[in-house]
Amino acid sequence: MTSPPLTQRPAWNALTAHGRAMKACHLRELFGEDPTRGLRFHVEAEGLYFDYSKNLITDETLGLLAQLARESEVEQRRDAMFAGQHLNESENRAVLHVALRMPSYASLVVDGVDVVAEVHRVLERMATFSDQIRSGAWRGHTNRPIRNVVNIGIGGSDLGPVMAYEALRHYAQRDLTFRFVSNVDATDFVEAVRDLDAQETLFIISSKTFGTLETLTNAASARRWLIDQLGDEAAVAKHFVAVSTNAAKVAAFGIDVANMFEFWDWVGGRYSMESAIGLSTMIAIGPALFFEMLAGFYAMDEHFVRTPITENLPMLLGLLAVWNRNFLGFPTVGVMPYDQYLHRLPAYLQQLTMESNGKHVTLSGDRVNYETGPIYWGEPGTNGQHSFYQLIHQGTTVVPVDFIGFVNSLNPLGDHHDILMSNVFAQAQALAFGKTEEELRHEGADERALKHRVMEGNRPSNVILANELSPRLLGLLVALYEHSVFVQGVIWDVDSFDQWGVELGKQLAAGIIPELTATDPVELAHDSSTNALISYYRSLKQNGRNDDDH
Ligand code: F6P
Repeated sequence: MTSPPLTQRPAWNALTAHGRAMKACHLRELFGEDPTRGLRFHVEAEGLYFDYSKNLITDETLGLLAQLARESEVEQRRDAMFAGQHLNESENRAVLHVALRMPSYASLVVDGVDVVAEVHRVLERMATFSDQIRSGAWRGHTNRPIRNVVNIGIGGSDLGPVMAYEALRHYAQRDLTFRFVSNVDATDFVEAVRDLDAQETLFIISSKTFGTLETLTNAASARRWLIDQLGDEAAVAKHFVAVSTNAAKVAAFGIDVANMFEFWDWVGGRYSMESAIGLSTMIAIGPALFFEMLAGFYAMDEHFVRTPITENLPMLLGLLAVWNRNFLGFPTVGVMPYDQYLHRLPAYLQQLTMESNGKHVTLSGDRVNYETGPIYWGEPGTNGQHSFYQLIHQGTTVVPVDFIGFVNSLNPLGDHHDILMSNVFAQAQALAFGKTEEELRHEGADERALKHRVMEGNRPSNVILANELSPRLLGLLVALYEHSVFVQGVIWDVDSFDQWGVELGKQLAAGIIPELTATDPVELAHDSSTNALISYYRSLKQNGRNDDDH
């Protein structure tokens, strides 16, 4: 990066001063001053309607944020990503999830290889395999067709598949059952397979590295379960496939590499749902709809590359996140999809956003002197309204919210959908404008509760609307968030594509496992708290299961 450190960029300093001034404004005033605000601060592109007018911004804010993007060389970094440069500096890797959705006629040569051709070679294999499973042509060890698909993976090798399956369940082949096992807690696996017939069950072992302890432990249990049920080691060949970058480890596990669908180290785990990691998605919805999802991703990629900053959806979403985080000081973002099919989207976005931008050093390794990635969380509406929205409306922490909703329901039933969507509009309205003491008094509210009923408002939100939830729409939406994360990461000058912070815990657990499993006395050399916890665990475990516990 050639630009000065973030806090020395002119736009940063201007935004800092501007942020102080804007904190004194109220959305009520901003809307009062400009009756066209709700239309002016919106963008419509690729079938998405993005209303960002209920952010605490003015034209000046937008101008300064665009200036910050330019001073941070966001566009140059974006172009470098699309060209396959090694933006993941701490791992010296290209960052090329965008190549996963390029059309087959495109070409992108990176480190001497046309990666688009590679992508489509694997997509074709996935399509053939998916069709075989969907049609029943692929037979299990006892010649029965596959009816159950169990994806075993964790992090990006689970959250993308499970989110996409749930999101697109409406389009799924309904005589196939899909399960997703991620947690090393055996309960996850045991409950996932307890009603499945092994003769009709396919396991997809999804792991970029094929070295993740949770996934390998679950995969080993799946293998034992299958062999116990079918009584023959040879059954593995017809009931296990792998998705990985690591052919050697797949083979060492005992899966024929002919049954492996590959991807590449330039695909980050949390950016992989449209790679072979999406095999379960493709089996569920079929290759044609999977390709429609890829077209949605690609449409957003094109929009991101070709659109000026202030009309560019991912740029705006990312810049507004920076504004809320750094200049207004809001520490979290709530993502509230008003669509039951998107109920795993917040969990998916948590990994995407927080594993990407939860960083404390710049690309050159200096400690940052500003806040980076906010905490993302959420639940589908309207459920959240009857739980934590109280805090969002009247608590002391301001939580900017992204509302996501659709004009048409995939399950039109009576007036459910209008009721659902009226809540999107009403919640955004209530957050922004609140209710004053005067208004309450005017309505004849009981004086005793008056202060408790005041809603200060001035709480920002974005509303993202689309016609209906489709594979293409899902691709658009995920790519929108991916690129928004990218924009934020470039401004913060962090490596959005590594995740070193997850390593220490794994390393420490590896040292503790033998201490928990050993039957002989062990000498513990941790801190006094960890020693005491492990001793307590060991002593209770040695005493066996306590009948009082259940
Ligand atoms: O531990 C974090 C992580 O590396 C994620 O980044 C990744 O998505 C997940 O683990 C699973 O990794 P793998 O696909 O290699 O099993």
